[in-house]
Amino acid sequence: MKYLLTLALTITLCQLSYSKSIKNPVDTVSNGKTILDEDGKPVNAHGAGVLYYKGVYYLFGEIKKGKTWLVPDQHWEDYRVPAGGVSCYSSTDLIHWKNRGVALKPTTNNPAYDVDTSRVIERPKVIYNERTKKFVMWMHIDKNDYKYSRGGVAISDKPYGPYHYLGSVKPNNQMLRDMNLFKDDNGKAYLIYSSEDNKTMQICLLSSDYLKPTRHYSRILIDKKRESPAIFKHAGKYYLITSGCSGWSPNAASYAVADHIMGPWKEHGNPCKGPNADSSFYSQGGFVVPVANKPNSFIFMGDVWNKTNLEESKYLWLPIRIIKDEIEIYN
Ligand code: DGJ
Repeated sequence: MKYLLTLALTITLCQLSYSKSIKNPVDTVSNGKTILDEDGKPVNAHGAGVLYYKGVYYLFGEIKKGKTWLVPDQHWEDYRVPAGGVSCYSSTDLIHWKNRGVALKPTTNNPAYDVDTSRVIERPKVIYNERTKKFVMWMHIDKNDYKYSRGGVAISDKPYGPYHYLGSVKPNNQMLRDMNLFKDDNGKAYLIYSSEDNKTMQICLLSSDYLKPTRHYSRILIDKKRESPAIFKHAGKYYLITSGCSGWSPNAASYAVADHIMGPWKEHGNPCKGPNADSSFYSQGGFVVPVANKPNSFIFMGDVWNKTNLEESKYLWLPIRIIKDEIEIYN
């Protein structure tokens, strides 16, 4: 089985490196398929983020379990699946993933608690705080109607957990839905999130222990209705790729570039190029992972959502091509 898996991955990699559209090859690993872990089981880490720590990539994501709840005659926000907590996988090459178990374990039958299977836990991200020596996880916490709109925070002494949940906040009393976390070269960290009923994004500086939002925040992409922020930095500039708002259905991505993380952000349109670029190749990006020891290599990580069975959702990870301060993504 392991041999077959390695063979399949090798063939995929060969196909990718021979694809004429990939001009900036990195060891990309998934082209809209299920990723299997080292035990041959599908990786269950949706809306994922990656932490690179001491030579190891740690992948954190939403554990989707069971069938999506389908509520007839209601709109797309009612396609969902009960939260299953946050998973963690580790890898040294972004190809072979070892299941490290449940990093943040939910309770069951405890609807008053944020991290309960009856609630929504989305887009977990982890960064490391050098000063406190803690791994800090932030995630979007919600209730079934998506009106709770808060950021939950958890900490651990180890990258893979277990994480201890501390609670949730509305940064500066603002809604927080689709979110990401960014740690800058100077050690400052920021939450980036869809806010104001998903109309506008906000970027908020975190406290030096990364556990609380500060009052210092900016409103960006005002009234643009963007979700799923994926941010990275290259050669002193910040890049922010976002999706439109269409629930679990794919739409066109767009990106913006800034010299300062708080803005101003200049919009540049869709980074996806070629056939099916309008639907981000049927995916929704959510994270960009810098490839370690390859300074110009970044991987755009997208979810290929299966909205009637979210657990079956797949992944699309593609290299980002950077040309001056513009970016392109090809499938
Ligand atoms: C789109 C978001 O990007 C997802 O994370 C999720 O919140 C769905 N909306 C819910 O419909």
